[in-house]
Amino acid sequence: MKRIGVVTSGGDAPGMNAAIRGVTRIAHSKNYRVYGFERGWEGLITNAFRELTPRSVGGIIQLGGTILHTSRCPEFESEEGVGKAAKTLASNNIDGLVVIGGNGSFKGACELSKQTDALIVGIPASIDNDVFGTDETIGFDTAVNTAVDEIDKIRDTAISHERIFIVEVMGRTRGFLASTVGLTVGAEVILVPEVEFDTGKIVRTLEENSAKGKKSGIIVAAEGIGDTRKLGADIEKDAGTEVRLSVLGYAQRGGSPTARSRLLASLFADRAVELLSQEDGNSIVGLLKGKIGTIGIKKSCETEKPIDLSLLELANVLAS
Ligand code: F6P
Repeated sequence: MKRIGVVTSGGDAPGMNAAIRGVTRIAHSKNYRVYGFERGWEGLITNAFRELTPRSVGGIIQLGGTILHTSRCPEFESEEGVGKAAKTLASNNIDGLVVIGGNGSFKGACELSKQTDALIVGIPASIDNDVFGTDETIGFDTAVNTAVDEIDKIRDTAISHERIFIVEVMGRTRGFLASTVGLTVGAEVILVPEVEFDTGKIVRTLEENSAKGKKSGIIVAAEGIGDTRKLGADIEKDAGTEVRLSVLGYAQRGGSPTARSRLLASLFADRAVELLSQEDGNSIVGLLKGKIGTIGIKKSCETEKPIDLSLLELANVLAS
């Protein structure tokens, strides 16, 4: 292993820069050269890269986003596009590639591995935390904290006006972000795509709460549940109470990574470079029951990560 490539792909996640820094500095300590491909898979298709050195990745551990930029790259979805990326790796004599991203990026990495001799290792980074093979992705903790800060503020208005708020959080088709955020803000109701919801039941919960003296409430809804505006209108009509919607949106993807996201990024980077140094590839690194481990990248892509529904049951009791 002499030359390592790094790419950040898909949605940015806070802590990606800490991972780039970690990979670069750990690889350099083993006398490898490191090349950062720009704008995700696009950089591999167009041969756009720059050399990364321990100095060039200075001052970035605390930065959100990714200094390499990222993109969703439709051309990489075709065999031809993947072929171009494989050629770029070969023409630059890249022996190993570290892919920092989520599910979509790992699916791309799987396709690439069929056309290249370079070893590929994935570092899971996504605010959605939906990657099989790791209990936590880089950026998830930061996104949770960002959402919690915002919802704590919304709670002030909910209490003052005795109103119900629906707060929509990201997560694509999964409810990992919503369930953790919901529990930690003390949400009265948490809605995730993995569990079908019933508007009538939500209204009954709000009415029971009102009878108990709770005149306000927060409903944390994952974006994947569908139309939250319509849900708000339906609840307002059935419950006869004011409902406001707040969509947190892209703020959840940005900002300085928490210490936990930086730590995870550094530990993942360390294991990823170690794997490459052992000529081991086509895997992803992950946090499994508190320890850093690895699983095959193909298995990660093909397996749906289960959601812990007991978190929702606990949140329900805690909000009573
Ligand atoms: O995967 C991260 C994420 O922010 C999801 O939570 C969200 O559904 C999606 O990306 C938005 O994607 P885009 O950046 O393409 O709008």
